[in-house]
Amino acid sequence: MNTKIVKIDAANIDENLIKQAAEIIKNGGLVAFPTETVYGLGANALDADASKKIYEAKGRPSDNPLIAHIASLDTLDEIVEDVSDVAKKLIDKFWPGPMTLIFNKKPNVPDSTTGGLDTLAVRFPSNEIAMELIKKSGVPIAAPSANTSGKPSPTKGEHVIEDLDGKVDMIIDGGEVGLGLESTIIDVTGKPTILRPGFITQEMLEEVIEEVELDKTILAKPTEDFAPKAPGMKYRHYAPKTDLVIVRGDAEKVAERIREEIENTDEAAIITVDEHLHLYDGVNAKVVSWGSLDEMNEIAHQIFDALRRVDDWGVNIIYCEAFEEKDLGLAVMNRLTKAAGYQVIDV
Ligand code: TXA
Ligand code: MG
Repeated sequence: MNTKIVKIDAANIDENLIKQAAEIIKNGGLVAFPTETVYGLGANALDADASKKIYEAKGRPSDNPLIAHIASLDTLDEIVEDVSDVAKKLIDKFWPGPMTLIFNKKPNVPDSTTGGLDTLAVRFPSNEIAMELIKKSGVPIAAPSANTSGKPSPTKGEHVIEDLDGKVDMIIDGGEVGLGLESTIIDVTGKPTILRPGFITQEMLEEVIEEVELDKTILAKPTEDFAPKAPGMKYRHYAPKTDLVIVRGDAEKVAERIREEIENTDEAAIITVDEHLHLYDGVNAKVVSWGSLDEMNEIAHQIFDALRRVDDWGVNIIYCEAFEEKDLGLAVMNRLTKAAGYQVIDV
C-alpha cells in the first residue's frame, strides 16, 4: 500500500489536508494522527471492517479492544449507556485531555472495535489536529497507539513512519507530541478503577471524585488467574531487543548492586537520573541519565523515544533504576516494568 505522508502544523492547520484525511476515515481507511499523549492509528469506530484493518496493520491480537476518540459530548451519548454522575464529574474536569473512560457500549458499536467486550473505552483528545480530524470525519475514531504491536508507543512522526509506512493510507506528522505517555484509563462502569496509570494521577482524580481504586495488575506480572482488566495490559509491551533489568530500592544500594551485576561484562549500560549520576563515577559501562527527578514530566515525555533507541547502543544488557511508584512515577514504572518483561531486582 502506498502511504501518503503529510506534515500538519497544529498552530496553523491545513484544512485541505484534514479534509483528505477525513475522507479516508469516512471511506473505511486508516489514518495515523498525533494526539497530546501519543500518536494514534485511526479508523471509523462504527465500521466493523475499518476497525479490523487496524489490527492487521499493527499486528495486534484481536481480543485487545480499541479506544473510541470523540470531539463532542453528543457523540458520547450515541455510543455508550449509563454515563454516571461520577463519570460526568471526571468529564467536566479532564476532557478534552489525556483521560480514557470505560462505559457500557451501545449496540451500534461493532465487536471488532471492542474486542467482543460489552464495554467501550472513550477519549476526547485535546490535540487540535486530532479534534479537527474527528470533527471533519463525522464519526468516532477508533485509535490504538500507532506502533507495531509490542513496540514502544510513538511520540514523533518518524516513529510512526518507521512502524507503519506501507501499511496505512495516510500518516499525519504533527511533530513531537506534548505528553508522551498514553492516557490514564479509568473504568467507570462500577467502582471507579484505574486500569492504566498516566498523567492524570490517582491523586488528581480523587480531588474530583471520592475514591478511585488502582487495578492490582498495574505493576505485577499478569498470570492466568491474575489478568488485568484492560486486555492490552497483559501483552509484552514497549520492549527493546536488548535485555532490560530494573533495579529498585534505595539509590546507593541500587548503584552498588548494579556495579556488582556489571562486573564481568564490557557491554552494559546504566540508566539513571541526574541526581544519581555521581554514584556511577568510573564505572565500566555506558551511563545515561533520563534527566532530573524534579522534572518527572520531562522523563515521562522522552521514555518511549529512548526505549526505541536503546537497541542502537550496542550493549547486551541495560540496568535501569526504578522510580518511586507514586504520582507520575507510577505511570513511568508501569511502562518500564513491561518494557523489562517484569525483570525487577529489589535491593
Ligand atoms: O493515549 C492513548 O490512550 C492513546 C492515544 C492514541 O489516544 N491510545 C492508546 O490505545 O494507548 P491502545 O490501544 O494502545 O491502548 C488502549 C488500552 C489497551 O490496553 C486496551 O486493552 C484497553 O485500553 N482497553 C480498550 N478498551 C477497553 C475496554 N472496553 N475495557 C478495558 N480495557 C480496554
Ligand atoms: Mg498501545
